[in-house]
Amino acid sequence: MASTAVLVLALLVVLLLPPITLAGDLPGFRATLTRIQPYSPGTHSAAVRRDSHRLALLSYASAVGAGRAAATNSSTSIQALVENGPGAYLMNLSVGTPPFTFPAVVDTGSDLTWTQCAPCTKCFPRPTPNLFQPAGSSSFSKLSCNSSFCQSLSTSFRTCNATGCVYDYRYGKGYTDGYLAAETLTVGGDSFSNFAFGCSTENGVGNLSGLVGLARSPLSLVSQLGVGRFSYCLRSDMAAGASPILFGSLAKVTGGKVQTTPFVRHPALPASPFYYVNLTGITVGSTDLPVTSSTFGFTRTGSGGGTIVDSGTTFTYLAEAGYAMVKQSFQSQLGNLTTVTGERAGGLDLCFEVNGGDVAVPPKLVLRFAGAADYDVPVASYIGAVEVDSQGRPTVECLLLLPSKDISIVGNVLQMDLHVLYDLDGEKFSFAPADCAKV
Ligand SMILES: *[C@@H]1O[C@H](CO)[C@@H](O)[C@H](O)[C@H]1NC(C)=O
Ligand SMILES: *[C@@H]1O[C@H](CO)[C@@H](O)[C@H](O)[C@H]1NC(C)=O
Ligand SMILES: *[C@@H]1O[C@H](CO)[C@@H](O)[C@H](O)[C@H]1NC(C)=O
Ligand SMILES: *[C@@H]1O[C@H](CO)[C@@H](O)[C@H](O)[C@H]1NC(C)=O
Ligand SMILES: *[C@@H]1O[C@H](CO)[C@@H](O)[C@H](O)[C@H]1NC(C)=O
Ligand SMILES: *[C@@H]1O[C@H](CO)[C@@H](O)[C@H](O)[C@H]1NC(C)=O
Ligand SMILES: *[C@@H]1O[C@H](CO)[C@@H](O)[C@H](O)[C@H]1NC(C)=O
Repeated sequence: MASTAVLVLALLVVLLLPPITLAGDLPGFRATLTRIQPYSPGTHSAAVRRDSHRLALLSYASAVGAGRAAATNSSTSIQALVENGPGAYLMNLSVGTPPFTFPAVVDTGSDLTWTQCAPCTKCFPRPTPNLFQPAGSSSFSKLSCNSSFCQSLSTSFRTCNATGCVYDYRYGKGYTDGYLAAETLTVGGDSFSNFAFGCSTENGVGNLSGLVGLARSPLSLVSQLGVGRFSYCLRSDMAAGASPILFGSLAKVTGGKVQTTPFVRHPALPASPFYYVNLTGITVGSTDLPVTSSTFGFTRTGSGGGTIVDSGTTFTYLAEAGYAMVKQSFQSQLGNLTTVTGERAGGLDLCFEVNGGDVAVPPKLVLRFAGAADYDVPVASYIGAVEVDSQGRPTVECLLLLPSKDISIVGNVLQMDLHVLYDLDGEKFSFAPADCAKV
């Protein structure tokens, strides 16, 4: 009797698993990314402020997961950490039949893809049209609590009731509430049926009306579509146009300069959705800094938060001890320049007076990752003009790296003019300098 019930239940679960279009024969598809606000002098302090919220959450999520902080509130979702604003990138997605298109913030640190759905208790009025109308779509269905996708949501932000599979995502500085549904998803000209996404009906995240989750977990868009890998190339010259993002077979980084490093797992958080890499060394000018495996890695004492590659953080953050070495090295190699602090520093930490010129010869910066993958960072990705004179010549330039308490983050400015590949199937991260207009 009992075993029959188990069998029936198992069968039910199998039948309820949504069929997923695809895999092997997926041709691959392409879309574009647009930065919410161009990155330019005057925008630094807003980006640093937004980063600080994200950094606090990434660090908190990592610490809770590793048992270093008590999960005293409902924000234990180890993901989903965004705010709209300068520094984030948008991508267009469509759901439904006929398709409803919306811009969504691209987040490699989140799993759930969501949009605002009618009827909505509290939603952001922009962009217009701002609400997906499930009742007007022939391919819409709510997902039941029995669905595998609902089961993959953390129990700390999932409830099940007559509405269906209800989620309550807390972002620390905001939240989004709604229910899970399945729809036809159209992205880059390809359509996929039964894509599980969030229909948000109450939204309290700073002006955010949609999100596309690209994390390393079952609910994310890349996992659901089974594309195995994706790549993007962020243009530093934003006025020149949008940046490409490629999925599946189109996502390939080629050329003689490709560097590859394996993704690593957080020892206490093997299911973490973040893309951890092993940052093993840093060279400033001709100085190899005395980095050890605990500087940017995971430590037993819990002080090390690891290093992640992230699309949603603007600048790059290094765990305190490592940052101190980098700062000291830049300071001593740029010893002739006057340092600038306070408001003129735009929220950054190490800035110099340059009086209408560029920092004459800034020391080179090389980040070294496990597997002999060296990233020789272009100057524009680590030294930025934060203040300019009336002729647009820089008067203050800053190091675009900042200290972090524990977790280290390779942010999106450091990834500009670089074609980066997240190979989920191969469990590795590859990158090569590129002219993004040609990718
Ligand atoms: C999304 O589509 C709109 C309308 O076609 C377009 O103006 C916008 O640039 C697109 N955004 C992105 C990120 O591709
Ligand atoms: C979900 O599964 C339970 C058994 O665990 C069953 O009683 C219920 O009817 C199912 N609900 C749906 C919507 O399929
Ligand atoms: C289901 O739960 C959510 C969140 O607690 C609540 O907003 C909603 O009204 C509930 N729906 C029903 C039909 O009880
Ligand atoms: C709740 O979570 C946030 C991060 O989302 C954290 O900063 C805050 O300290 C937590 N509150 C309590 C009371 O633990
Ligand atoms: C939301 O957008 C409005 C209008 O564009 C703006 O005034 C407001 O400051 C924004 N709020 C946040 C939290 O970004
Ligand atoms: C990172 O690389 C260092 C040096 O090769 C090694 O000692 C360490 O175990 C690696 N860490 C992880 C998480 O793989
Ligand atoms: C500092 O200035 C001196 C004299 O002008 C010059 O020789 C030296 O190379 C400068 N050092 C740096 C780090 O720019």
